[in-house]
Amino acid sequence: MERSLVLIKPDAMQRKLAGIIISRFERQGLKIVAMKMLQMDKTLAQQHYAVHQGKTFFNDLVEFITSSPIIAAVFEGERAIEVIRQTMGETDPAKASSHTIRGNSGLDIQHNLVHGSDSAENAKREISLFFSPDEILDYSEEIDK
Ligand code: RTP
Ligand code: MG
Repeated sequence: MERSLVLIKPDAMQRKLAGIIISRFERQGLKIVAMKMLQMDKTLAQQHYAVHQGKTFFNDLVEFITSSPIIAAVFEGERAIEVIRQTMGETDPAKASSHTIRGNSGLDIQHNLVHGSDSAENAKREISLFFSPDEILDYSEEIDK
């Protein structure tokens, strides 16, 4: 069982695509175990995207991700990291398959709608930036009657 951090980025919020994106991950069998809406500040954005510090697009990326509220969520399931990355599609929507979220609805490399962790190590680090352990809620997938 794996967990991955998903961010519904500012462009997805502004275009009212949050529900569709969340729904796609749920339809892959992934379970929501944490969720909140927030506006990221510069410090959180720089920590979250620390691996990109120094790259040409770093300042634009931080400015964009902090520009408007987002939804942060933790999804759990078998191979959750890979399933989410495949469902999102390649970083640049122009190169992403049309069956993916980014290929189908993304506008450009910055306005690519969604973030998903790219490794188990980064998932753990990213989840801890957004959620305390007591904000992650586990529950059975069987229906209580
Ligand atoms: P993300 O982290 O947001 O899930 O995206 P990703 O793994 O597919 O791509 P990554 O390489 O981690 O890049 C993070 C975000 O930076 C922007 N970017 N711009 N102008 C450029 O060449 C460029 N390259 C990356 C994208 O918005 C990407 O989502
Ligand atoms: Mg990334």
